[in-house]
Amino acid sequence: MSIITNIEDLRRLAKKRVPRMFYDYADAGSWTESTYRANHADFAGIKFRQRVAVNLENRCVASTMIGQDVAMPVALAPTGLTGMQHADGEILAAKAAEKFGVPFTLSTMSICSIEDIAANTSKPFWFQLYVMKDRDFINRLIDRAKAARCSALVLTLDLQVLGQRHKDLRNGLSAPPKLTIANLINLATKPRWCLGMLGTKRRTFGNIVGHATSVSDMSSLSSWTSQQFDLGLSWKDVEWIKQRWGGKLIIKGIMDAEDARLCVESGADALIVSNHGGRQLDGAESSIRALPGIVDAVGKQIEVHMDGGIRSGQDVIKALALGAQGVYIGRPFLYGLGAMGEEGVSKCLQIIRNELDLTMAFCGLRDVRQVDKNILLPGTF
Ligand code: GLV
Repeated sequence: MSIITNIEDLRRLAKKRVPRMFYDYADAGSWTESTYRANHADFAGIKFRQRVAVNLENRCVASTMIGQDVAMPVALAPTGLTGMQHADGEILAAKAAEKFGVPFTLSTMSICSIEDIAANTSKPFWFQLYVMKDRDFINRLIDRAKAARCSALVLTLDLQVLGQRHKDLRNGLSAPPKLTIANLINLATKPRWCLGMLGTKRRTFGNIVGHATSVSDMSSLSSWTSQQFDLGLSWKDVEWIKQRWGGKLIIKGIMDAEDARLCVESGADALIVSNHGGRQLDGAESSIRALPGIVDAVGKQIEVHMDGGIRSGQDVIKALALGAQGVYIGRPFLYGLGAMGEEGVSKCLQIIRNELDLTMAFCGLRDVRQVDKNILLPGTF
């Protein structure tokens, strides 16, 4: 195996090792994927001011997100089906995050359950909530996250309906995968993945199956979502969720200043500028372009986080410079997980920290908490 030096190396290896259905699920955007591409591409136009001959001793990339100490301001994003990128994937990613000192966010749509993560880690993790029609189930899910001592609830508001991802339809995405001829042929080329899966019982939605009535396996993501997800979701629901939860609340999926102001009114502790990694509204602006307007509108009242398109420490520091208190990485850690399990997630975090630290140094700073627009070249952001 060739030496891994950046996130793209992890992506290539993951593509070799993960069954096509799940690699495509993680890597795809919706429709033409224009927002998915813009999320990353729009970082490239933002340029740094290079500074020289400043003291660079004792640098520090530690910071805080929602008042919690983080080894760097980068959390693992909630990603569906993580345990299909690698057997027991959520447990492995949570362990890597815990060792590194950054938050791990467990998705409602995870394979390993809330209780699984709690039993296999010792520090609190964050839990991401989708609101489904069955309110008793949601109440129980919130209570389970409380019982597992999760230290933040990340409430996703941008997935009442599902953006069409062509590859998922073509691949017949399901967990566990259906054993069609095409899937069997593809699985035969992924022996490591198959061995891992044979060695675990965690092969379907751990938070849902056996907890929600009338849900067994997911036959098709789109039909499942349209049956279960709540089209009637409103800001009134945010109120009861906040009350029931009673802890730190982060609202995910904000791309508009008006919605950002509603987040502030809702009493949330933070919002995430996010277009769901370009997986929902194709044609939405990239997250990095949306960020400054949202910071201008509400940045003094609420902590602003962002996700979408981050593939390096350089991207992280650009988002911090434009006012994010912290960022989330989804695909980068999934590539690491699919490539090399827990070790791959650790590798992903090390790569990003190293790039973040060195880039901060080139910009003439020693403390990531001092990063602001001054490190960026005027006219490029
Ligand atoms: C669900 O979170 C998805 O984007 O597939």
